[in-house]
Amino acid sequence: MPWRYSLRCFNCNTEYPANRTDYACGKCGGLLEVRFDLSSKRIPWKNRPLAVWKYREILPIDDDRFITSLYEGGTGLHHCQRLGRELGLKKLYVKNEGENPTGSFKDRGMTVAISKALELRKRRMVCASTGNTAASLAAYSAKSGLQCLVFVPAGKVAAGKMLQVTIHGARIFQVKGDFDQAMKAVTELTSHRKEFYPMNSLNPFRLEGQKTLAYEICDQIKGNAPDILVLPVGNGGNISAIWKGFNEFHELGIVSNKTRMMGIQAEKAAPIASAVKKKLDRITPITDPQTVATAIRIGSPVNWTKVLRAIKESKGTADTVSDKQILQAQKSLAAKEGIFVEPASAASIAGLSKLLESGVIDRSELVVCVTTGHGLKDTSVADYLPRPESYNVKITEPGWIERLERAL
Ligand code: F0G
Repeated sequence: MPWRYSLRCFNCNTEYPANRTDYACGKCGGLLEVRFDLSSKRIPWKNRPLAVWKYREILPIDDDRFITSLYEGGTGLHHCQRLGRELGLKKLYVKNEGENPTGSFKDRGMTVAISKALELRKRRMVCASTGNTAASLAAYSAKSGLQCLVFVPAGKVAAGKMLQVTIHGARIFQVKGDFDQAMKAVTELTSHRKEFYPMNSLNPFRLEGQKTLAYEICDQIKGNAPDILVLPVGNGGNISAIWKGFNEFHELGIVSNKTRMMGIQAEKAAPIASAVKKKLDRITPITDPQTVATAIRIGSPVNWTKVLRAIKESKGTADTVSDKQILQAQKSLAAKEGIFVEPASAASIAGLSKLLESGVIDRSELVVCVTTGHGLKDTSVADYLPRPESYNVKITEPGWIERLERAL
């Protein structure tokens, strides 16, 4: 059973019952979030294995029978010593979310949101996506026997992600324009047809699953929160969910320190970073965002209010990186640490370099970079790499081993 929880407007604090399925505040139109009663100080999950559902008491599903899981979470926190040496950092860790069942962090949110959808007796799932949300939703809908509709920017989603959506049997709707148009289509559809259940990060239950990333990191570094978390930002659901997770562990007395949150965006898709840099309290949406990191090619992030607050409260910041820096960081992480991530994820490593150079992050701090999705999802990056060196081997010809040695 979960601890007591309700829904609350992030903006004006109006409370709503937990079974409300309209995720905009009825009073001010603000975003809703789940609020748990954390007054119970007895922590029951200490000896359970690392996974999203380890923290079952602070996940908002009332009845265990609806819990639907593909075994998400429990991802590695990799101590990156070789890359760390290059950057002059002793305590560099990568939380590699590509190790989730569909290859991205979205599975953390989806296991909770789909369980909630089943509990609310919803049958038709819908999302807008740059690819990963769609792939994850398609997989969890398949497991649950639910209908799944995904809206994607036409022709702009990485091939691996489209393949996942297709093989899991979802219905694909290609929208002319970018992600923001696809999101508009979903908002219109779900406001006119209530039977379509929205699974974007506007859905507060999905973000509850995503907050477990913060819990896991604290458990993995043994009862403390990292000094710094660096992660890519698109719609901003993830950074706000993780900040919520750190705060909840702080409130429960599990950790005593606070993490500074660093949001990284691609140079030409950076409405959040430009608002933070200009110290503005609202964003200006960008039309026609561009970046090789298609997952975060978003001009009008739906969770911007939550992101700006997370960055401000945590005394963090946001910064931008170029496509060239993203691709270099992707290659470095793969070649030095054996971790292959998609371009959006590499933005966190590229952003870290920049924040070290500018002195925003001190080299003595414990830094965790979140890599959000697996590299195999987007094989188009091969276009930016030199052709691999390879040799033909004829094992029927004597002396082939000597020739091989000469080639090394
Ligand atoms: N990294 C990857 C690999 C993503 O797929 C996304 C978002 C992000 C980072 C940014 O996360 O939106 O919570 O700030 N992908 C969404 C999608 C938009 O549709 O798959 P965010």
